Amino acid sequence: MTMTITIPNGSTSPNAVANDLCQAQGFLEEYGVWKEAPVLIGTTKFEPLPDVKNIMVTGGAGFIASWLVRHLTLTYPHAYNVISFDKLDYCSSLNNTMVLNDRRNFAFYQGDITDPRDVLDCLERYNIDTIFHFAAQSHVDLSFGNSYTFTHTNVYGTHVLLESAKKVGIKRFIHVSTDEVYGEVKDDDDDLLESSILAPTNPYAASKAAAEMLVHSYQKSFKLPAIIVRSNNVYGPHQYPEKIIPKFTCLLARSKPVVLHGDGSPTRRYLFAGDAADAFDTILHRGQLGQIYNVGSHDEISNLALAKKILAQMGIVGGASCSSSSSSSPSASCPPPLSSKEKEKAGDGVDTGAGAGAGDGDDNGNDATTLTRWIKYTHDRPFNDHRYAVDATKLRALGWRQRTSFDDGLRVTVDWYRRFGERWWGDISKVLTPFPVLAGREVLSDHEPVSDHPPGVTGRGE
Ligand SMILES: NC(=O)c1ccc[n+]([C@@H]2O[C@H](COP(=O)([O-])OP(=O)(O)OC[C@H]3O[C@@H](n4cnc5c(N)ncnc54)[C@H](O)[C@@H]3O)[C@@H](O)[C@H]2O)c1
Repeated sequence: MTMTITIPNGSTSPNAVANDLCQAQGFLEEYGVWKEAPVLIGTTKFEPLPDVKNIMVTGGAGFIASWLVRHLTLTYPHAYNVISFDKLDYCSSLNNTMVLNDRRNFAFYQGDITDPRDVLDCLERYNIDTIFHFAAQSHVDLSFGNSYTFTHTNVYGTHVLLESAKKVGIKRFIHVSTDEVYGEVKDDDDDLLESSILAPTNPYAASKAAAEMLVHSYQKSFKLPAIIVRSNNVYGPHQYPEKIIPKFTCLLARSKPVVLHGDGSPTRRYLFAGDAADAFDTILHRGQLGQIYNVGSHDEISNLALAKKILAQMGIVGGASCSSSSSSSPSASCPPPLSSKEKEKAGDGVDTGAGAGAGDGDDNGNDATTLTRWIKYTHDRPFNDHRYAVDATKLRALGWRQRTSFDDGLRVTVDWYRRFGERWWGDISKVLTPFPVLAGREVLSDHEPVSDHPPGVTGRGE
């Protein structure tokens, strides 16, 4: 297969099409920024499967799927052809896979999973035998205000894919779901197994659970060979800065404070994207059809503690665990502290030293004034699950391991956003607000009230 980019009724030369797409879609990515970035993939490699040849990855220009697209294309250059299928929604970037454009076993297809013509055309044109289905509206915050879009893409779009997959006799359909389908897990509860009931609490999670029901029904009614994967939070380079880690890093790099929803106490578990790519590679090669696999991390942290960790990684407060110890970690060095220009922009209250300050503060010795300068609060989501917790024993039994510690992964991620965050997706200003809204493909800023204290807490002197 030679590299092609397919756009219905569009131009044919790969680079010309890439440029056309960027301009026609209003993309503002700086041309060529991808050339400066490291090529990031997972670490696993298996004996190629004889019945897998042409793999379609939906949502391939988005965050997690682009890690898998790069991983599969570069790890199995002679065994698998990889076709990235993406609508190029607001959160995507062709920069995520631009490094593959000269690879013979890679192609990009601009298509919409809710359009059966696009899906069938891609399946037939590339003789697809395996589908990884990642494409989705993936941002919980947006789902409170744009819930029809979530149902349309995540439920109807999955239905279109399933029906099309049935039509062409697909051999493997790996459906990417989320730990959010289980709903909230209490502090003292056990980690959830794949057999636990689904009890989603927000429109995003509900749409993902509904999509799973359709997958299940196609397995039963039509013997569609499917696997369902439920992952906890994934983080790393290439994630659109609407999610907490890249958003907070980009805000701090602009010398702006981060804004927590509610009191910042909800916790999440985080898995580095390279480990997630390994999980999907493992499930492709060793997973059993008809099964469900949780993908879980050991690293659980509250939003407030995470904010402080990012401040430390940026060199703004003390407490950074910035060592380059782990041999299994991605290669990266500690990011430099804020430059003098960044500090100057930040003005008073910037504490770049470790263990700053006397008086009230936190366990790392950061004084309250410094934290108040950098951490603000706004109202919470309509409902915010306190935590999620899945048990990944079943996946580990296939040989998968979480290799990247949170400290190492966070260091790599913060460093990447400081270098490329402002250029990768074009102007990201509007998405950096606490609760941005979406109008079509356009992200709009919100004007939510922001305070120095969590809602309901009054600060000294107020
Ligand atoms: N990010 C996480 O932490 C996380 C955790 C668990 C599960 N997931 C799931 O993993 C998948 C990928 O998540 P992500 O965070 O990488 O998402 P993302 O938002 O970065 O990417 C989604 C991609 O899907 C594409 N897309 C959206 N609608 C489409 C449509 N109608 N047709 C074709 N393409 C379309 C977008 O253009 C984008 O490239 C999603 O299914 C999500 O539910 C994500």
